[in-house]
Amino acid sequence: MDIVSICGSLRNASNSRIIESVLQSLAPAGMRVISAPPIGEIPFYKHDVQVEQGFPSSVDNLAKAIRAADGVIIVSPEYNWSVPGALKNALDWVSRMQEQPLKNKPVALQSSSPGPLGASRMQYHLRQVLASMDALALTKPEIFVTFVGTKIDIVRRELTDDATRDIIKQQLVAFGDFISYARPS
Ligand code: FNR
Repeated sequence: MDIVSICGSLRNASNSRIIESVLQSLAPAGMRVISAPPIGEIPFYKHDVQVEQGFPSSVDNLAKAIRAADGVIIVSPEYNWSVPGALKNALDWVSRMQEQPLKNKPVALQSSSPGPLGASRMQYHLRQVLASMDALALTKPEIFVTFVGTKIDIVRRELTDDATRDIIKQQLVAFGDFISYARPS
């Protein structure tokens, strides 16, 4: 089972990126998690560019990675109680494609925040965006990494909190079951 992960942060020392980078080590047997091509290279959506020049290669690459995957995991922070602009921009581009890559694609969500809500507001906005794209968002377990600075080792780039590692493991198992249910082979 191939999963592609998308990080909603462009920051070099991103907490979300650290969480994304440990997913493979928490995944059940048979699940392969690889990072999507970077969304930071995607230009701002402009309809004229789409019509006159076609989709940028950075969008094509992201779409190809999503299409090739059995499921997508989005790991993101929250900006001003919502979806970071770079992530929303990437989804906006992808949403305009023929054979839209996220249509009927299982998606799991994870978010982190230095604060007490774990970017939960962002996740519920993101669910709405994904619903508009006919993506199949996993409902539970939800992953909100609260007070993320206390749960990761930034230097070693590791997720150190056992409870968080455990709930992520549970979500990855549930996601595998969800994919098998949603896309029977
Ligand atoms: C933030 N941050 C933030 N945090 C949060 O929990 N809720 C929020 O609404 C916001 N809003 C917000 C807006 C903008 C523009 C920035 C730059 C930051 C703080 C944010 O969670 C923090 O910077 C994280 O470290 C960003 O995630 P990464 O880059 O570490 O993955």
